[in-house]
Amino acid sequence: MPILSKETSMDKQELPKVPVPPLDQTLDTYLKCVQHLVCADQFRKTKAAVDKFGAPGGAGELLQEKLQERKEKTENWVYSYWLEDMYLNNRLALPVNSSPAMVFPKQNFRDQRDALRFATRIIRGVLDYKARIDTDDLRVDVARGQLAGTPMCMQQYRRLFTSYRYPVQGSDSLSVKVDCAGPEHMIVACKNQFFVLETLLNDELMTDAEIFSQLDKIMKMAENPTERAPPVGLLTSDGRNEWAQAREALVKDPVNRTSLDLIESSLCLVCLDEPCSPLDQSDSSRAAMMLHGGGAEKNGANRWYDKSMQFVVGLSGVCGVVCEHSPFEGIVLVQCSEFLLEYIISSPSKMSTVVSGKSLPVPKRLTWKISPQIQGFISDSAPRLHRLVKNLDMDVFKFSSYGKDFIKKQKMSPDAYIQVALQLAFYKCNRRLVPTYESASMRRFREGRVDNIRSATRQALAFVQAMTQDKPAASDAEKMEKLNKAICAQTEYTRAAITGNGIDNHLLGLLRISRDLKMEKPDMFCDPTYLSSNQFILSTSQVPTTVEMFCCYGPVVPNGYGACYNPQADHILFCVSSFRESTDTSSAVFSNALQEALSQIRDLCKRAHKPPPSPAHKGSKP
Ligand code: COA
Repeated sequence: MPILSKETSMDKQELPKVPVPPLDQTLDTYLKCVQHLVCADQFRKTKAAVDKFGAPGGAGELLQEKLQERKEKTENWVYSYWLEDMYLNNRLALPVNSSPAMVFPKQNFRDQRDALRFATRIIRGVLDYKARIDTDDLRVDVARGQLAGTPMCMQQYRRLFTSYRYPVQGSDSLSVKVDCAGPEHMIVACKNQFFVLETLLNDELMTDAEIFSQLDKIMKMAENPTERAPPVGLLTSDGRNEWAQAREALVKDPVNRTSLDLIESSLCLVCLDEPCSPLDQSDSSRAAMMLHGGGAEKNGANRWYDKSMQFVVGLSGVCGVVCEHSPFEGIVLVQCSEFLLEYIISSPSKMSTVVSGKSLPVPKRLTWKISPQIQGFISDSAPRLHRLVKNLDMDVFKFSSYGKDFIKKQKMSPDAYIQVALQLAFYKCNRRLVPTYESASMRRFREGRVDNIRSATRQALAFVQAMTQDKPAASDAEKMEKLNKAICAQTEYTRAAITGNGIDNHLLGLLRISRDLKMEKPDMFCDPTYLSSNQFILSTSQVPTTVEMFCCYGPVVPNGYGACYNPQADHILFCVSSFRESTDTSSAVFSNALQEALSQIRDLCKRAHKPPPSPAHKGSKP
């Protein structure tokens, strides 16, 4: 990211507040977004409900006024509504359903010591990065791409190593520690056991050799079968209500309370994973391993999913980071991960591991009092995680025919182009378009998170229909015109969303403030169209990286796809996910359709931009 000067450092940012968009603009856009996705009859009812809501003196007017007041009184009027709706109220298990992961390049560890060296450098890198955050020394991110040049809100970085998501019946709670400058402890997971890794020795940061020595001791301690505790971490992979219930029982015992406190207050987890078979080391398998750990029989219990950052170092070189999503976005995760990988690469290849060992304290093993009731909870969690593991259908592929450079040469936005290709791929598979989510960064605003770009535009529908109709087949000129319109519509929507004029946050705000005011739920929010328009069968996100690694996540609905993409100059990396239990989806089928769609659009652009044969050559004999 480009650098800004120190005057615009993290703490001194004066960013504008997220605006409340005009009511009629949002309602009008909403109708345009859904009209072509529902039948005409249903749309008539939807329009009537929306018109009633937006009528002068109607509920919308009052709620809009209340939102304006909320905007004045808060730093960010939508933040807590959005956080609850997007994450905390979701009762599904965190792995696959909510927590994304970054997959690092496959490491070639010669032996266990190599893996521990890698883990040591991650730990040192985290401490260095955390110190930069604490001392306000992180360079401010600046927007690139659409509307480039604006500084971005840096709040999310502060939450990387200070957050913990507590499971609570009904709705979780996200706790963020403030004033926690300085190095603290981390938790190392090994063979489903948890150990405290202090990072200071006699008030000084431990050296690489000292950290290495502690990790080595932890590995040996974890081997000891007599001290092995049951796989408590499995509980955190369960549904949030199930985990909340188990935690209530767990916390009653002071031994467990102490162990929980140590995990909750740690900077992060470092998970030393068991090696996986060579068959489990493809990009798709590594992505799946990061998302769910392979279930109880592999590394699924070697995790603590409530903690925001879990660095995974697998002994066979499968490495990455899995994160609890509620405190920050993937882009912040990428920045941190890139720093760490560069930190590791820049470090001396042969780190000294010679340390006396005698002066170092023995790492503390977390102990647990496991009642039969808690053992029962653990036993129930294992098959539920197993089902999630079996259910995930992950397909990571590199589309290598072209990348951003080709698209830019067509004078089109690469992101909009890829989104239109995703629509074409979906249409090829299903002959319809569906509500689509694309995350749009709101970090141009104070405490900004994201809003949604609804990519299934009516212009995209017109284009994909033209591309797939046989009789009569559309001409290239018609297809090209529709492609241009679809890309323009997508680009316009993107610009609206990143400047605070998206509709999803606004509609959510209107609904939530009506609840706060104890008003009857307005009809337009009970309407089947509103409900179905929030079932994102296609959940997409651009997560670009500048070093070799990629982001992945799962679908957000049972019959949906997750599609994360990483556009590079000459290729695009896609991570497509779906659930095997759904007969509507198949990641391989969707991926094939996507590759076909991208090739067809490229061919269309090439044909359209091909100069016509010059008259001199027309019909001329060789
Ligand atoms: N002709 C030529 N080049 C163009 C162009 C055109 N018509 N339109 C855009 N470009 C260029 C841009 O200048 C930019 O150039 P760069 O590579 O030198 O920076 C590049 O193409 C990319 O721009 P574009 O594809 O339009 O998109 P973007 O980078 O602005 O991304 C979003 C759009 C929506 C993805 C972005 O605004 C965003 O919000 N990102 C965050 C997503 C997020 O939060 N993900 C994580 C969720 S957990």
